[in-house]
Amino acid sequence: MKLMVTGGAGFIGSAVVRLAVARGHDVVNVDALTYAACLENVAMVADSPLYTFEQADIRDAAAMNRVLSAHRPDAIMHLAAESHVDRSIDGPLAFVDTNLRGTATLLEAARRFWVEQGRPETFRFHHVSTDEVFGSLGETGRFSEESPYAPNSPYAASKAGADHLVRAWHETYDLPVVLSNCSNNYGPFHFPEKLIPVVILKALAGETIPVYGTGSNVRDWLYVEDHAEALMTVLQKGRVGRSYAIGGEAEARNIDLVETLCRILDRKRPKTRSYADQISFVTDRPGHDQRYAIDPTRIREELGWRPSLSLQEGLERTVDWYLVNEDWWRALQSRDGIGDRLGILP
Ligand SMILES: NC(=O)c1ccc[n+]([C@@H]2O[C@H](COP(=O)([O-])OP(=O)(O)OC[C@H]3O[C@@H](n4cnc5c(N)ncnc54)[C@H](O)[C@@H]3O)[C@@H](O)[C@H]2O)c1
Repeated sequence: MKLMVTGGAGFIGSAVVRLAVARGHDVVNVDALTYAACLENVAMVADSPLYTFEQADIRDAAAMNRVLSAHRPDAIMHLAAESHVDRSIDGPLAFVDTNLRGTATLLEAARRFWVEQGRPETFRFHHVSTDEVFGSLGETGRFSEESPYAPNSPYAASKAGADHLVRAWHETYDLPVVLSNCSNNYGPFHFPEKLIPVVILKALAGETIPVYGTGSNVRDWLYVEDHAEALMTVLQKGRVGRSYAIGGEAEARNIDLVETLCRILDRKRPKTRSYADQISFVTDRPGHDQRYAIDPTRIREELGWRPSLSLQEGLERTVDWYLVNEDWWRALQSRDGIGDRLGILP
């Protein structure tokens, strides 16, 4: 199959690119190379005859039309987005522009290409989204495909709007789409502004490890390579027009997650005092969702996917990866905003 992956130089997109090439698919990686991109993430496939890179912006209609005509993919996996909630609090319009206008522009290019090809039924537009579109849970319950949309952050709202656009292009134009809404990912190549890499890198640097609020917020964590596997499954086996909730069934309070990471580091990179001594509670994120959890019954029973790693196994692997890939994260630490506290209202 020939796949066009948008955002393939980012964290999850690069895992999809690596997996798809390893499976023998042709891949064209379309990425604008924003601050969050890193071509090192796909270095291991860069010389493969199956792999091509196109630096292009999903908001650029002419560029999207050109890339589609040149590469003629069988499917588009759309991951390009502004993805950091704290940055969306500081600058929401960039999220509206990329995640909404960019997705609409890409949908129009995809529709035009699909019509020119004679509307093949096998074509797929796979929109990759987040569980954050469903808002926040209380102590019980889990999100499913039937959960009402109730996004709270500008990031979540822009992703929710993009989900609605994708549905509309299916209902109105018959474009063969599938959607997926996944919980928090973690693992290798996670950009150093997100919680898990922040904890590991602050710990190793001997700096304060910031935990927002009281650390009681709960997230459901999924190892990024398990997500990539789930995305390929949804693409190849998912029913057109349907969405799939994806999660690791691995809920953890932020403070428990951070303490687990500190214990793993205590074992793997021991020093005189525990890394947990560096933990400090800091001002909470405005509108911080209390809890996310996913009921993955549909993808498990209909498509046969389940995560391969427990949270503990995934965290051990992730810490190992950061310990041996210092060159990768050191090179990113000079990027704009890395290491700074973002998303606090004045
Ligand atoms: N990280 C998570 O935990 C998580 C969970 C569920 C869903 N998602 C979704 O998965 C997708 C990927 O997330 P991620 O964490 O890998 O993000 P990321 O920020 O690591 O990567 C995003 C990539 O998109 C590219 N990009 C941004 N704007 C672009 C534009 N206008 N045109 C072309 N490329 C552009 C960036 O250069 C970057 O390489 C996003 O759509 C996100 O909403 C993420």
